[in-house]
Amino acid sequence: MAVGRLVETLLQSIVPHTHEWFPDQPHSGLEVRVLADRPKCLLLTVHLDGAEVPAALAKFRRDSVSRPGAGTRPRLRDEPATVEQLTVLEWSGLAAIERACGDTAGLGVVRPLLLMRDDAGIVMSFTDAPTLRNVVLDLSRLRRGRGSLDDAIAGCTLAGRWLRTFQERSEESDRPVRQGTREVVVDRLRAYGEFLDSRDWRRVATKGTQLVSERLPRELPLTVGHGDFAPRNMLLRDGRLTVLDPLPRWRVPTYDDLCRFLVGIRLIGEQVHTHGLAFGAGALDALEAAVVAAYLGPHADQAPLRAYELLILMDKWTAMLDNPRRDVPGRIARRSAALADHRVRAEAERLLDLASQG
Ligand SMILES: Nc1ncnc2c1ncn2[C@@H]1O[C@H](COP(=O)(O)OP(=O)(O)OP(=O)(O)O)[C@@H](O)[C@H]1O
Ligand SMILES: [Mg+2]
Repeated sequence: MAVGRLVETLLQSIVPHTHEWFPDQPHSGLEVRVLADRPKCLLLTVHLDGAEVPAALAKFRRDSVSRPGAGTRPRLRDEPATVEQLTVLEWSGLAAIERACGDTAGLGVVRPLLLMRDDAGIVMSFTDAPTLRNVVLDLSRLRRGRGSLDDAIAGCTLAGRWLRTFQERSEESDRPVRQGTREVVVDRLRAYGEFLDSRDWRRVATKGTQLVSERLPRELPLTVGHGDFAPRNMLLRDGRLTVLDPLPRWRVPTYDDLCRFLVGIRLIGEQVHTHGLAFGAGALDALEAAVVAAYLGPHADQAPLRAYELLILMDKWTAMLDNPRRDVPGRIARRSAALADHRVRAEAERLLDLASQG
């Protein structure tokens, strides 16, 4: 639907509710602004009486041209879903987060306000804060390191605490299982090793499959995943972390979300494409240590986590190499990523070392 029509539909849908949603903010007028207009979604903000800071945000999904599954790489999950299904999942995920984390110190929540199923839209409360990704990027040397390492560490500690709280309090679920057994993890590691098609990566995959067989149980403990537990989906301000954009489609091994976060920190685009110029290893180590300690506790055996992390690293790395964009920026990103291959392999070797300890 055209942007103008969606703005109209949104206004009509929310006018009857805003006084009930925002009882502490008496208002007589509403304004809707476009925050982002992307191929995959349209983000609109709702302003009460023209206030600069929005009170609510509406996210409308669109059928996008580049579907997941466009490339040829092996995948962990690639069943297509309609925009309506994804919208309903995100809605249920926001409600589950509110139930699990709504009353925990240091954790904020986005309130799901209205599901507009026919338009694949969700209206939710707005949290005025930078993403944890931006807090981390501000540490980059390319941005003159103007950020605070302490703030980024505090954010990562809260991310670990968030995940622990969410998993401990989440309800039973009958969602389909992905990577539920050691055997599936071994099979996927082999597939990624073959796809990466170099002697070094095949060696990593072989060593990885051995460690997975030794360190992981036959049946992996499962949980409903957040689905996209990445620093860009977290907002941090004044010692409070709010996690957005859930997509709880599957039950996955309990380490899945944590590993996606860890790999997200290590393979942050600015670091990969500058071949490690952006961040010193010390800063990334400190962020990683903070989230792992908050999730696992300081003295836990990290070997199973690190064995599983290798799978997520190879999944994310093949995604970066197999970026299906055919335009110039897409080709540059692929080429630049390919040049960083040895650095990512060094990261894989580090995971193998950690997985063989303990
Ligand atoms: N409720 C909210 N309050 C404040 N900011 C928000 C809210 N929802 C989304 N945003 C901002 O908009 C950005 C994109 O939102 P979201 O992650 O839901 O969309 P997306 O299309 O799934 O993005 P991506 O694929 O990059 O994760 C977020 O990173 C955040 O900066
Ligand atoms: Mg997001």
